[in-house]
Amino acid sequence: MDKLKIFGGKQLEGTVEIEGAKNAALPIIAAAIMADSSSVIRNVPPLSDVKTMLDILSSLGASCEFDEEKKVIKIDPAGIHSFTAPYDMVRKMRASICLLGPLLARFGRCSVSFPGGCVIGQRPIDLHIKGLRALNVDICIKHGYIEAVADNLKGNTVFLGGRFGSSVLATANVMLSAVKAKGTTIIESAACEPELVDLADFLIAMGADICNAGGHSITINGVTSLKGVDYTVIPDRIEAGTYILAGVITRSKIEVSKLKKEHLFALTDVLSFCGVGLNFSKDKVDVDALDTSFRPVDITTLPFPGFPTDLQAQMMAFMATVPGISVITEKIFPERFIHIAELNRMAADISLENSTAIIKGGSPLSGAPVMASDLRASAALVLSALVATGCTVINRIYHLDRGYWAMEEKLKSLGARIERINYE
Ligand code: UD1
Repeated sequence: MDKLKIFGGKQLEGTVEIEGAKNAALPIIAAAIMADSSSVIRNVPPLSDVKTMLDILSSLGASCEFDEEKKVIKIDPAGIHSFTAPYDMVRKMRASICLLGPLLARFGRCSVSFPGGCVIGQRPIDLHIKGLRALNVDICIKHGYIEAVADNLKGNTVFLGGRFGSSVLATANVMLSAVKAKGTTIIESAACEPELVDLADFLIAMGADICNAGGHSITINGVTSLKGVDYTVIPDRIEAGTYILAGVITRSKIEVSKLKKEHLFALTDVLSFCGVGLNFSKDKVDVDALDTSFRPVDITTLPFPGFPTDLQAQMMAFMATVPGISVITEKIFPERFIHIAELNRMAADISLENSTAIIKGGSPLSGAPVMASDLRASAALVLSALVATGCTVINRIYHLDRGYWAMEEKLKSLGARIERINYE
């Protein structure tokens, strides 16, 4: 199992380029099986989650080629003969749930292993089930699998708001099924995340009829066939936000390029309030954090365009370095705080009251052996290690490899002292 060894205290400089968005690529790859011909999907980073999705599609009978150097995937769905996504593969990646929609649209049936919980919380799937049932899908849970049959997918109006707001992948699953359903589907309280808009744009290019993706009410008129297309995935706003925060936490001046400014307003607004200099031009931002007198903040994670839960841990790492009391309330995954214990091992002073973290920032972070627990928590540990005194060893970095391509090389090119240690 690999570890990362980081010697902190080094300012960063230079430019870092952002990859295509993992969370857009995964449902797009799954949706490619709905076409009558091959699709080419570009700007896809060779992450382990992407490879897991391709393994699942291959196990269904699709032919998948991944040119990892060019970051281009070709998917030919012609040979698909199975509609079962097995436990051994789904357990590696919760996002496999987004195969429900494409399998139902293509076969009218599917069997997808129930994804279960994870360290960031319970992760229920009631909204997926409710939305699909509204489209005339029969669903039951049997022997750990979601068994679904839809001999006749029918459009309907469905409200997808849940206890914690909208759901990204439930909206994706209903949209994917509705594309091939008879008649019109309206999704109310739909998720508005840019990754969902990217999925809709991919489907529209294939021949789907979808209006207002990115709004709270999406209308989908069913079509009978979809063709394969050549499509380029949007930049990863969470990777971009993580590198912006790497520049900020190390009080550096760096450039982050190949991003979309409009996907990052919630983060850049908060950072501007703190006192960070951010200068956008075209697809780049100059991050200037050389002035060290930053202000603490009070933020709440919310569905897009609010502050993303996937940047909560990284933001917390930064707040731990800012003198004063910052507050972060988690409204999407109320238990997503496992990183607090590890940050406190690095001499942060963070306490938790229900779903609100209180960060007493400003005392120096100190390098320590720490354990990565999930993808974004791992990124927060890397950021903290970059600024901590001495050496930090981060264990279980396979979590990081699920969502950040070549992170140590990218940070090294910015001047960080970081190395990967291979352990058998
Ligand atoms: C996606 C992202 C993940 C991000 C999350 C929230 C992918 C592959 N993953 O996950 O990185 O952290 O959005 O922005 O795109 N919920 C229910 N019932 C459901 C489904 C969800 O109550 O049926 C709840 C969840 O527990 C959570 C909230 O809704 O509290 C939002 O979750 P959701 O948007 O569904 O997350 P994912 O789509 O799984």
